[in-house]
Amino acid sequence: MSYRSMPKVELHLHLEGAAPPSFIKGLAREKHIDIDRIFAEDGGYARGSFEWFLKAYDAACTTLQGPEDFRRLMLAVLEESAAHGVIYTEFFVSPDFCGGGDLAAWRDYLDAMTDAADEAEQRMGIASRGVVTCLRHLGPEAAKPIARCAAETKGRFVTGFGMAGAEMMHRPGDFSWAFDAAREAGLGLTAHAGEWGGPDMVRETVDLLGCARIGHGINAVSDHALCDHLIERGVTLEVCPVSNLVLGAVPDWKSHPIEELRDRGLRVTVSTDDPPWFGTTMTHEYDMLEKHFGWEEERLAIANRVAAEAAFCDDATRAEIL
Ligand code: ADE
Ligand code: ZN
Repeated sequence: MSYRSMPKVELHLHLEGAAPPSFIKGLAREKHIDIDRIFAEDGGYARGSFEWFLKAYDAACTTLQGPEDFRRLMLAVLEESAAHGVIYTEFFVSPDFCGGGDLAAWRDYLDAMTDAADEAEQRMGIASRGVVTCLRHLGPEAAKPIARCAAETKGRFVTGFGMAGAEMMHRPGDFSWAFDAAREAGLGLTAHAGEWGGPDMVRETVDLLGCARIGHGINAVSDHALCDHLIERGVTLEVCPVSNLVLGAVPDWKSHPIEELRDRGLRVTVSTDDPPWFGTTMTHEYDMLEKHFGWEEERLAIANRVAAEAAFCDDATRAEIL
């Protein structure tokens, strides 16, 4: 069955990572930037290890050079998401790619993104919010101005603070300053953990950074005490199954722990991460969950309800997407 028309809530989508290859190619051509190496012969993004992916991702982002590029990007991405039945999406947005953490520059980029989000909501009926995201591999000092950008621009669009990037660099507690600042500003908190790291990384992310949500979190499954801890604290996992398969975080579908996590009682949601890089869409994620784990409408609807409950939005918006 194709789940294209089912209403969906997506919590984990990197704005730059959702850029169609044709969009990035067009910008590269306009700006005379040579990034041919990140594309495959079929015109899509090439594939490689996680380390390769992070470098290629950075290269793609060099073509995104001003607020107008981000406005157009966000509209294109929301149009695609809406076509797959997504009614609410949360974007990871990165000041590192939007003025390098400078607050005044970030405000200009954010204005453009907020315009695009408003236009998409009116024209396509898809609501969206932004989770300002620091990049772990740039280190704890670089995360501070990003947290400041998040705290200073909390509002209608920016409702969360997060961390992406190379999980095996630094420990979660090294980023306490940034997460404390974001929490004090009233932002929702999430960080990638347990995608590559073990259960210890997930536990520290929850206990030391106070994250209510975890990006991926799949490696929590091997530690039953941790699973109980996550259930007790009401932590929500932003699971991105196809991403895990394509990047090799799990070797095959039968090893993917989403069903075991759900069965143990964890709060599990479904997202695409960086859809064109992994050849996925929300429809495809749902089709794969049906095919490999027998998830039918009822389970998918529960994942959507859990996502709506964990969304970093106001209660009026939550009531609309529940
Ligand atoms: N940035 C974009 N996609 C990511 C992923 N899957 N893990 C960590 N950082 C990312
Ligand atoms: Zn991610």
